[in-house]
Amino acid sequence: MSFPTTRLRRLRKNSILRKMVTETSISRDNLVMPLFVCPGNNVKNPINSMPGNYQMSVDNIIKECKDLVDKGINSILLFGIPEHKDETGMVATSDDAIVQRAIKAIKKEISDIFIIADICNCEYTTHGHCGTIVNGDVDNDLTLETLAQQALSFARVGVDMVAPSDMMDGRVGRIRQALDKDGFVNLPIMAYSAKYASAFYGPFREAAESAPKFGNRASYQMNPANSSEAMREIALDIEEGADIIMVKPALSYLDVIRRAKDEFNIPIAAYNVSGEFSMVKAAVEKGWIDEKRIVTEILTSIKRAGSDIIITYHSKDIAGWL
Ligand code: PBG
Repeated sequence: MSFPTTRLRRLRKNSILRKMVTETSISRDNLVMPLFVCPGNNVKNPINSMPGNYQMSVDNIIKECKDLVDKGINSILLFGIPEHKDETGMVATSDDAIVQRAIKAIKKEISDIFIIADICNCEYTTHGHCGTIVNGDVDNDLTLETLAQQALSFARVGVDMVAPSDMMDGRVGRIRQALDKDGFVNLPIMAYSAKYASAFYGPFREAAESAPKFGNRASYQMNPANSSEAMREIALDIEEGADIIMVKPALSYLDVIRRAKDEFNIPIAAYNVSGEFSMVKAAVEKGWIDEKRIVTEILTSIKRAGSDIIITYHSKDIAGWL
């Protein structure tokens, strides 16, 4: 049946009817807020390139978490800025490392919060690469051991989920094996499966002080031109035991999210990364766009593309608007 019998404008007549036939909506339940924890007391350093985001000491992270929970955001993703870095990132494997201290303190103070810890070495190595360097490149299999140790430490201090973001081959399997061996059989893994070597991470590297000191991450993160390869990455991570898979960044990769949704039966997360966030904030500051409408449209698009979970620095703002 076509025009004039069919008129699609009939269902756009008023807002009650439009809401009745809305296909996609965002809920606070699906949002995750990334936070950066640093040493010290009463520290709240603004991150220049990410307005409204801070490096916070544990006491202030707790305050921030209480505020988020009050606003209905019950899930956070933690990144750490350590007091010292080393060659391999082993500083991050101690139960007293910065993220571990934060996890313990948050869990003690707040009951209804879900803590996800990012597993990677780039914030903890002197050279800023995501693993152990051998002959000028990150050695895959040596790095797996530091990642497994980091995961185990997070598990011991009570994390709710771990999220490896390093892009080493076999890390999901190695982490699953380590967790299971020590009895953490019910701790889920959210794998950054299709993580691209992206310019959109720029502001984050200032926030996490994790920019590589030489070269780039192209020998481990994915080529932005590839989508079939992303399906291979996802398939392998699922085989190795991933419980949730992730596509990152989100906006330039909505096609990858959709393809993953169509090809796999597993919850999908999308990371609306720092550069995507900061571009919006910059345009808002200039008065060029309407923040509330733009952010709602962006997050709705990520959801419509097929992601179940959205990790976004907009979480706190949008919680007040929903
Ligand atoms: C660590 C990591 C990065 C991000 C999340 N985990 C940076 C990178 O890979 O360089 C980026 C997040 C963002 O840009 O918001 N490996």
